[in-house]
Amino acid sequence: MIGPKSRRTRIVLGVTGSIASYKAVDLARYFMKRGCDVRVVMTESATKFVTPLTFQSLTHSPVTLSFWNETAAGNIGHIELADWAEALVIAPASADCIAKLTIGAAESALLAVALATRAPLIIAPAMNTNMLSHPQTQDNIAALRGRGHTIAEPETGELACGWVGTGRLASRREIYLQTMRAIGPRDLLGKRIVISAGPTREMIDPVRYISNRSSGKMGLALATEAHRRGASVTLVHGPIVGIASLSRDIRRMAVTSAAEMSDAMKGCVAGGRGETEADVAIMAAAVADYRPATIDANKIKKGPSVPTLPLVENEDILKSLGQVGVANRKTMLVGFAVETGTHEQLVAEAKVKLGRKGADIIVGNRAEDAFDKGTNQVWIVSADEEPLHIETSAKRVIARAILDKIVMRLRQLTSCELTH
Ligand SMILES: Cc1cc2nc3c(=O)[nH]c(=O)nc-3n(C[C@H](O)[C@H](O)[C@H](O)COP(=O)(O)O)c2cc1C
Repeated sequence: MIGPKSRRTRIVLGVTGSIASYKAVDLARYFMKRGCDVRVVMTESATKFVTPLTFQSLTHSPVTLSFWNETAAGNIGHIELADWAEALVIAPASADCIAKLTIGAAESALLAVALATRAPLIIAPAMNTNMLSHPQTQDNIAALRGRGHTIAEPETGELACGWVGTGRLASRREIYLQTMRAIGPRDLLGKRIVISAGPTREMIDPVRYISNRSSGKMGLALATEAHRRGASVTLVHGPIVGIASLSRDIRRMAVTSAAEMSDAMKGCVAGGRGETEADVAIMAAAVADYRPATIDANKIKKGPSVPTLPLVENEDILKSLGQVGVANRKTMLVGFAVETGTHEQLVAEAKVKLGRKGADIIVGNRAEDAFDKGTNQVWIVSADEEPLHIETSAKRVIARAILDKIVMRLRQLTSCELTH
């Protein structure tokens, strides 16, 4: 018996015979550290690369190897395992396993679980470049994707077989993020969301600039959460760290100055070249309000007198986006307001900004709560509604609350369109 369903996310990890099988050990730990219960199913080939004992010791659960030798207590029937799973992650997935998945073969416990489960299937191929690019393998992968399964795309780089090319197992972070998206609420599926993050830098001369303390963590959290909920996400970001933590699905555009951020945001929101206009734009970046009137071509030398730095005002990107096609704008606009005063002043300022900038939602936060921190507290302000206060929480939790609000408003808009 497996025992009662726990509140931890239940992951069945299928391991096949690949030189990358050893990476599945680390992957199992990665899932477990992030609140998942992991049960492992191995093919016979996989056991030639890693011992079941390794997985059993790490996951504190028996490893399923075959349905023929399932004996008594402690061992898990493959149907029971298929029902238990919230997600079946096959990593690494061999070319052989991928081929058998496409034809519905059930000759091993892993293949039988894959056939029997109704949980989302996440497949992370790992193989030699030529095996991967073989038309048959490509057809198989396309067929699995066409059935709605998730493919955690293999990476390009040095392969164990000595080749350099595509075929390396996706990173554990990518497989984890793809799994969370596959089992996520999908309430933003089909929506295009453009998010800005981080500070801008306004150059003074080739070595100096004006900037601010924004870390970009709020924008990164929003991008990760929007991706988890099914959205197609573009992140326009200033100079920040942490971009590597994002799923490779998320399109990134690195910019430096406010002017570059403005161009990138306007272009991404408008869409074009096969992309529709964005459904939602979230300006989470801390865009510099001013920039030096001129950028010195050479480093400004120290002289007898202190230089003065004339400034000019930067464009208000949120306001500009709010002025585009006001009457028939499709994009929902979400801005951030940062203040140093009381929360009452912050909410009042956020309400003013709603109208002045043509935004749908303004998220108010205080500089002392937000800058360069993993946590924040916010007041979500929208027209005709009471401000919603989210107490100090991880930025991941704040991102969830903001996207809950956005989903609610998108639904309201859709039902309005349907009734008119
Ligand atoms: C040393 C060695 C490394 C292998 N590495 C891979 C690999 O990375 N990817 C792959 O698809 N097959 C690889 N194979 C071939 C598979 O192990 C073989 O196709 C096997 O039948 C897969 O069985 P399974 O899908 O039931 O695990 C390798 C074989 C050997 C001997």
